Amino acid sequence: KDFVNVGLLGAGTVGGGVLKVLEKNAEKIAKEVGKPVRITKVLDRHVDRLKQEYGDKYIFTDNADEVLEDKDIDIIVELLGREHPAKEFIARAFANGKHVVTANKDVLAKFGAELFPLAHEHNCDFMFEASVCGGIPIIGPLKTSMAANQITSIMGIVNGTTNYMLSKMANEHLDYDEVLKEAQAKGYAESDPTADVGGLDAARKIVILASIAFNTRFNLDDVQVEGIESIEACDIKYATDLGYAVKLLAIAKNDPENGVSLRVNPTMIPLSHPLAGVNGVYNAVFVNGDAIGEAMFLGLGAGRLPTASSVCGDIIDIARNMQHQSTGRISCTCFEEKRLCPPDK
Ligand code: HSE
Repeated sequence: KDFVNVGLLGAGTVGGGVLKVLEKNAEKIAKEVGKPVRITKVLDRHVDRLKQEYGDKYIFTDNADEVLEDKDIDIIVELLGREHPAKEFIARAFANGKHVVTANKDVLAKFGAELFPLAHEHNCDFMFEASVCGGIPIIGPLKTSMAANQITSIMGIVNGTTNYMLSKMANEHLDYDEVLKEAQAKGYAESDPTADVGGLDAARKIVILASIAFNTRFNLDDVQVEGIESIEACDIKYATDLGYAVKLLAIAKNDPENGVSLRVNPTMIPLSHPLAGVNGVYNAVFVNGDAIGEAMFLGLGAGRLPTASSVCGDIIDIARNMQHQSTGRISCTCFEEKRLCPPDK
C-alpha cells in the first residue's frame, strides 16, 4: 500500500485539530514515517456541516460500520469522548485488526483492563498520549525513557480547566462562576464540567499515569477525590499572603512499606516549588524516580492543537511500527497485584 490510512471517529474540537495538523504537516509526517499518512473516512453526526467545511477531502459518514469495517483502514483514531459507544468501537477496531489511538480517559480509566488484552490478542497497537495532559508527552516517557526507574511519586496539575480557573481567581481576582464560563468558552472543559471542577477528570488521569508507573491496573475507586467547588477567591488570597499557591493536584505516591496511594485534592504549594508557577491552561507533571531524581513535564494541558499534537504523534509512532512490522508491542507485559495504601495512612 502507498499510504497509511486512518479512520477518524469524531471531528469535534480535537478531531478538527488532528485533520488540521495532518494536512498542514503532511510532508514532514510522510518523511518521519517513510510513507504518507492520510485520513480517509470520518465518523461524525454533523455530516452536512463537515462537508461544507472540508468539501470532498474526506469521506464523512454517520455510520460507524463504514469506518470500522473498512479493510483499507489501518488505524482508528477515537475522539468521540465518553464511555459508550467509544469503548465498543475500540473493541471492534481491535477485533478487525486495526490499531487504535485514543484521547479517551473515561474509557481507559474504566475499561483499560478489558481493552489492553484485546489489543495484545489481535497484535494491535493501542496508544493514548493525548488522554493525559493534552500536548504534554508524559505517557511515552513513563513507558520508555523512565521505565528503568522505581517511581516514588507523581504529582500533577493535570486538569487545564481548574488550573485556568484557580490561576484567574488568584491573579485577576475573578469569581468562580465567571472563570468557569471562560474555561468552557475556550473549549477546555469537559462536556459535563462537573468532571473538571469535581476532580473526576484529574482522577481518571492519575489512574492512567499510576497504572503505567507502577505496573498495576488501578481504577477510579482507588482514588480519593476532592474537587475545587468549595474554593473561593478569598481562600486563594489568604494562601498567597502566606506564601502558597492553591492548585488541584493529582498525586500518586508509592510507599514501599504501605503501598500506593492515589488522590486528587486542592493543595497549598509553597510558591518556591516549580508546580506553584504553572498557571492558566498549562499542566505539569512532577515525577520522582530513583535514578532520574526529580523531573517536571510542562505544557498545554488542553485545547485543539496541543491535544492534536499528541494524537498525531501516536499515529506516527504506529505508522512507523507498521513500516517495520513491529506492531503489537505492549509496554507493560506484567501487571502486579494492587498494593494500595490503607486509607488512614
Ligand atoms: N477538560 C480537560 C481539562 C480537557 O480541562 O484538562 C483535557 O483533558
